[in-house]
Amino acid sequence: MPDLENLQERLLSDIASAKDKEELDRLRVSAIGRKGQITGLMRTLGPMAPEDRKRTGPILNKLKTVVVAAIGTKERELRHESVAGQVSGESVDVTLAPRPMQEGRIHPVSQVTEEIIAIFADMGFTVATGPDIEDDFHNFTALNIPAEHPARQMHDTFYFAPMNNDERMLLRTHTSPVQIRHMLSTKPPYRIIAPGRTYRCDSDQTHTPMFHQVEGLAIDTAVHMGHLKGCLETFARTFFESSSLRMRFRPSYFPFTEPSAEMDIGCSRGKDSIVIGEGNDWLEILGCGMVNPRVLQHVGLDSEKYQGFAFGLGIDRAAMLKYGIPDLRAFFDSDLRWLRHYGFRPFNMPNLASGLAL
Ligand code: DAH
Repeated sequence: MPDLENLQERLLSDIASAKDKEELDRLRVSAIGRKGQITGLMRTLGPMAPEDRKRTGPILNKLKTVVVAAIGTKERELRHESVAGQVSGESVDVTLAPRPMQEGRIHPVSQVTEEIIAIFADMGFTVATGPDIEDDFHNFTALNIPAEHPARQMHDTFYFAPMNNDERMLLRTHTSPVQIRHMLSTKPPYRIIAPGRTYRCDSDQTHTPMFHQVEGLAIDTAVHMGHLKGCLETFARTFFESSSLRMRFRPSYFPFTEPSAEMDIGCSRGKDSIVIGEGNDWLEILGCGMVNPRVLQHVGLDSEKYQGFAFGLGIDRAAMLKYGIPDLRAFFDSDLRWLRHYGFRPFNMPNLASGLAL
């Protein structure tokens, strides 16, 4: 057995003079690591005669405890020194100009969707949603567009591969299936709008394969065409921020409404620009009508008792018109320069707290 007192003295003095954490770690390993000096001594206890072990055991344990405690104390000391050194060595220059902060922009589609929701919410509409991947029943049949109906061709539908039962799912071609889902899952009366993505196999300056629509539906026992007109006129005047906006309803055809109409608003047209709210021209902005009784029957409603109106509006187009954005395709290019120019600062939503009066 070496001179333990001497060993302890040496270890403690080495630990006390360790310069940094690395040196302390090395000392720890050489004393109590797997191949350390104290560990080695501990191992000699096993083969010892019992009375020797009884004498030496407590001495070695004590040695180990003392060394471990010394390492702990030194470790805390070194940590404290390094923090203190950092604090005294560093200083903050509070006069320095702050780094410019990058502020994101709200995409025009998001902005306009929020504006539309705010306007209709003020008239008592709530937001409903439905899936982008639809089936034939909700996208077509329930909306009175049966299999051979020409309107199906007009929709340029993206279909998925047929399933086992031969049914083909599709990307919804309009937001109208949300009407059907909403009526099938809740009880009347209904007053909803359904903004969302829609898809058609189409691409040019004013068409993209994915675009956005907002659907509206109001059904009750006494909803009539006057409500439809009033509601959409309030919407258009508020949205385009023009109390003198001219509007007209033109007869049209949609399978899911009867009668159907298209709503035009007054505008003037230059060579490549359209200005809303002035001039003598007209611009179509949405389709609408009184919900066809057949649609109500498809969702199990009593069409003698309930009636109402529906409408569908292209959100991207509304954004282009309101904010003078010329090319629809740029909406989906994810070009940050475009977004910085046409996007909106956050927290800049229209304030409708004072109602819709213009
Ligand atoms: N679903 C129609 C479309 O995509 C838009 C539309 C027109 C919706 C008239 C309606 C409506 O609810 O009544 O072209």
